[in-house]
Amino acid sequence: MDYVTLASHAIRQYAPDQIFTASQRAKADAAALGEDAVINATLGECLDDDGKLMVLPTVERMIRQMPVEDICSYAPIAGIKGFNEAVQISLFGKCLDRFYVESVATPGGCGALRHAIWNFLNFGDALLTTNWIWGPYKNICEEHGRRMVTFDMFNRENTFNLEGMDRAIGEILAVQEQLLMILNTPANNPTGYSMTKQEMEQTVAILKKHAAANPDKNLTFCLDVSYIDFAGSFEESREIFDAIFDMPANTMTLLIFSMSKSYTMCGMRCGALVCLGSTAESAAVFKQAMSYSSRSTWSNAIHMAQKILVDINLNPEIRERVSQERAVFRNTITNRGRTFCAAAKEASLEICPYQYGYFVAIPCKNPVETARILMDQHIYVVPQAQGLRFSPCTVTTEKCRKAPAFIKAAMEQTQ
Ligand SMILES: Cc1ncc(COP(=O)(O)O)c(C=O)c1O
Repeated sequence: MDYVTLASHAIRQYAPDQIFTASQRAKADAAALGEDAVINATLGECLDDDGKLMVLPTVERMIRQMPVEDICSYAPIAGIKGFNEAVQISLFGKCLDRFYVESVATPGGCGALRHAIWNFLNFGDALLTTNWIWGPYKNICEEHGRRMVTFDMFNRENTFNLEGMDRAIGEILAVQEQLLMILNTPANNPTGYSMTKQEMEQTVAILKKHAAANPDKNLTFCLDVSYIDFAGSFEESREIFDAIFDMPANTMTLLIFSMSKSYTMCGMRCGALVCLGSTAESAAVFKQAMSYSSRSTWSNAIHMAQKILVDINLNPEIRERVSQERAVFRNTITNRGRTFCAAAKEASLEICPYQYGYFVAIPCKNPVETARILMDQHIYVVPQAQGLRFSPCTVTTEKCRKAPAFIKAAMEQTQ
């Protein structure tokens, strides 16, 4: 092709992101017909009942009052002073003494996922995760010469499929030197499922078993906790961390931290890849390697966002105020999600087990066709490989009550 000089690996179709395409159509629809006539349950941003972006008032105030030096100057590569402490306080309520924790600042949780997938797998290796996932996991793998392999997230009892996970880990370790398993919990995107503490304990036991059986291989366990602050009380959502202890020497535990949800700062692109190191040396090696990776990709992450994280979490009074503001948002989203679940039950619409979070997932045989039928009725959902994603975070409680019956009817038309 003339005038195109791309390397062959870079020539690929950009199928416009389904979520943004559906959302654009929904917006046009709403402009023509009025907001009430349209259910736009596509995006992953929280909107209030008037369709306005939900931003924590304290965060908004801090953004507007930030000194220009803290906005425009470079931040150190791994993060500004206090960043590692602030991430820990945000995640655990305090700096942990049972791990050597290092956090490297990244552009959102997305950047942290990139660092994990690039640095903890070899070329051509497969990342292991669940079949219900946030779509970009696969794109990030492909962008970096890795693959994605999944196991069914739920068993027949609709609880976490530990046996499937155990088998999949064994299969990967039979052919790869590196295992990287990413689990998105609590408040999984797209299902809203939160693994129980017992499920996490069993997961860790399974990892330890495989680590012992494969002493020459490296196992990385990565929890994507991007939605942790929308998953019930602080204590409840953090119970899973208690299951992680006495990790074998050929393992490393990582967390994906995101400011997009917890601090309502999606557009400010800040997060971190966090290492729960078992030794000071392993945590230091992690920090070195991630810093190298940062310098070679985006350099440093947004200064102002880091400053806001530090200013909130190193000040108990501000932190408390923010958690009260967030609790209001969390309750709104959870109530909407549960309203959807109750209406789904009434409509005999089968959904994945939802506890908390921004999204509900509906298993479906013909997701694209079903989404198209719904679109004609001005209901916008996201078709995924396993079914449909509906976002209670963006629509009113009333729309959550209304949608399931329409989804059920559309699914019946495509069966
Ligand atoms: C499961 C999951 N992980 C990570 C992210 C990354 O978010 P961000 O890059 O905005 O922090 C998202 C965003 O929607 C997500 O759904």
